[in-house]
Amino acid sequence: MSSPPIPPSPAPAAGSASASASASAAVTVSGLRKSFRAAGQTIAAVNGIDLTIAAGEIFGLLGPNGAGKTTTLRILTTLLPADSGSAFVAGADVLAEPAVVRRRIGYVSQLGGADKSATGRENLLLSGRLYGLSAADADRRCAELAEVFDLGQLLTRPVRTYSGGQRRRLEVALGIMHRPRVLFLDEPTTGLDPQNRANLWDQLGRLRAAGTTICLSTHYLDEADQLCDRVAIVDHGQVIALGTPDELKRRYSADTITITPEVAAAGLPGLARELADAASAEASVTGGGAITLTVADTTPALAAVFSALATRRVNVLATAVGRPSLDDVFLRETGRSLRDTGGPGSSHPADRGAGAGAGAGAGAGREVAV
Ligand SMILES: Nc1ncnc2c1ncn2[C@@H]1O[C@H](COP(=O)(O)OP(=O)(O)O)[C@@H](O)[C@H]1O
Ligand SMILES: [Mg+2]
Repeated sequence: MSSPPIPPSPAPAAGSASASASASAAVTVSGLRKSFRAAGQTIAAVNGIDLTIAAGEIFGLLGPNGAGKTTTLRILTTLLPADSGSAFVAGADVLAEPAVVRRRIGYVSQLGGADKSATGRENLLLSGRLYGLSAADADRRCAELAEVFDLGQLLTRPVRTYSGGQRRRLEVALGIMHRPRVLFLDEPTTGLDPQNRANLWDQLGRLRAAGTTICLSTHYLDEADQLCDRVAIVDHGQVIALGTPDELKRRYSADTITITPEVAAAGLPGLARELADAASAEASVTGGGAITLTVADTTPALAAVFSALATRRVNVLATAVGRPSLDDVFLRETGRSLRDTGGPGSSHPADRGAGAGAGAGAGAGREVAV
């Protein structure tokens, strides 16, 4: 506990045990497995996970309740031994060098770890001292984090009097008091209102900008999509898709253009064929007198569609562009929607976006009226 604080900048991996981990990787996981026995059953909570998290990225484990996210995080943070496989975190082996890993990481668990009867300041100072900061350093760091996380007025109050968002901010501050290289967060924004979520995302973005690698779990589609540089979609203890949110969406789905033309129902199939030809796309007649085109490149397709409509002097009552969502990726891989399987929190309004827009095909995630 007497080691000096470690700067947040990514440091090259050192030591023989980490020789197999890539120098620029903050986390390397290979063949990770963990089963639990409960009520006579064996549950394969983590069922062969491989992944690499580069230094300096925000990496998301996205999956429904029971997917194995917390178990994975507990293994990576040395709280739980894996049955098999290996994991290197911040240049050290979680199994062989757990104490080294612990000094180099921060962990904000789903329930948080703040002592509710103590003040925010007492919590921060204790955490700093436990990690080996001098009293003066802990004091300075406390003031610094109070500024970053907008905690100034709160720090003299017992944590039990904090709102959910305030407590979450303190817990993240506690997780980085010792300037960890890698910060793990389990469902950091579950239960937070939209404003507090946005605020926390902002702060996590700033931590990343300062060089901290962040690995978080979430079942919120928009959190993975907007906050994370790369996402591993997990289900039943396995990674079923891995990439940047844009890569995943492009790989598994395409944009859609939905037009509601002012023509009689009988004329819709013919017009759909003409628009498909004009935009070199697939088109079908969807509900509500609409035609939906699945397109590879939206802007030229829109231009071609409007040009064809203008030539035919067809009025347009409504137009929408549907962007694929990470839920489309999950649906394609599992046959289920993450919105339906994510548990109580999955009904967060921010997840729904404007997806219920006019005539959106099943593949359309977020609709943007044009
Ligand atoms: N200590 C435990 N004993 C028995 N089963 C467990 C234990 N911890 C987790 N599980 C089971 O392992 C699976 C994965 O759980 P978890 O990692 O918590 O998922 P997530 O965080 O993605 O919701 C679930 O089926 C869960 O019930
Ligand atoms: Mg969990």
